[in-house]
Amino acid sequence: RHQWQGVIEEYRPLLGLAESTRAVTLGEGGTPLIAAEALSQRVGAEVYVKYEGMNPTGSFKDRGMTMAITQARAHGAKAVICASTGNTSASAAAYATKAGMACAVLVPAGKIAVGKMSQAIAHGAQLLEVDGNFDDCLTLCRKLSEAYPVHLVNSVNPDRIEGQKTAAFEVVDALGRAPDFHLLPVGNAGNITAYWKGYREYREAGLAETAPQMWGFQAAGAAPLVLGHPVDDPDTVATAIRIGNPASWTQAEAARDESGGLIDAVTDEQILAAHRLLSTTEGIFVEPGSAASIAGLLKQADAGRVPAGATLVCTVTGHGLKDPQWALRTADGSDLTPTRVPVDAVSAARELGLEEG
Ligand code: F0G
Repeated sequence: RHQWQGVIEEYRPLLGLAESTRAVTLGEGGTPLIAAEALSQRVGAEVYVKYEGMNPTGSFKDRGMTMAITQARAHGAKAVICASTGNTSASAAAYATKAGMACAVLVPAGKIAVGKMSQAIAHGAQLLEVDGNFDDCLTLCRKLSEAYPVHLVNSVNPDRIEGQKTAAFEVVDALGRAPDFHLLPVGNAGNITAYWKGYREYREAGLAETAPQMWGFQAAGAAPLVLGHPVDDPDTVATAIRIGNPASWTQAEAARDESGGLIDAVTDEQILAAHRLLSTTEGIFVEPGSAASIAGLLKQADAGRVPAGATLVCTVTGHGLKDPQWALRTADGSDLTPTRVPVDAVSAARELGLEEG
């Protein structure tokens, strides 16, 4: 019987970590690659969903954080800091706690989901709400990490990318080959950078013959890579990817261009429709930002750009429980409230529309 050891021990030879370095791990990675039958039928191709909400803190950030915190500890850091739209802070707080380090997080005031905020606080992080957006928070964190003894664990830290590239390894290991297309949400652009690095390295090592086209999707109100210039006041219901000036801008463009892929925008309506489709047809619950990859898949399919029979993997980056309020609304935005019944089988059956038989 094999217990998954976390991404560092599972892929250590490919991560450039000193042999003596002991991993700080919560058992991250090894997430399900789910065959998505309803989506496959809808787009006429073979679609898989890489369910990153199944990581220990509920998002893909744990893959990068195990590496970043492991290296920070190896270098003697006592405290780490990050800017976050929520998931990075939840992950940093958990892994810093595991390593016995202090953790400070700067988040945009009023713009992070309550589940994520709770996680950072639960794990004892010092949390500051900044009167600004994510990009402002990252600028502040960079300044603080330069002037004070705090180690920056945003994805501008290359250790984060090293850890996150393991998701591409897992996809190839599970499929037995690289997919034709890999779709994912794009915010600060660390993850698309990491996946592309992972696919390239597997191909160079002879572990995959090909690498996929990388298809990234930004929220339309926060789509600097699509517009070709930073967005001063990014806005979207997908708070995870509410970012106007991605730190890994040039790397994201390189992933797009070297793979022959694309970076496109999807509207909040498309994101919420994809969020609903995933939960009602595939049984997969994600946060809105994660549904950008699915919204992108549907948009490209409707435009006739998904070749029949192709293999596509969509990463869904964070768990639905992070930001559950969206499930409690109808497509037109009104609240869904459950029907209340007495302790009585007949009334319950009537409300459920059950017929005797
Ligand atoms: N999906 C989710 C759920 C995220 O939390 C993020 C980024 C992304 C997608 C985009 O990934 O930044 O690598 O392009 N969240 C960061 C955070 C910014 O602070 O948690 P990216």
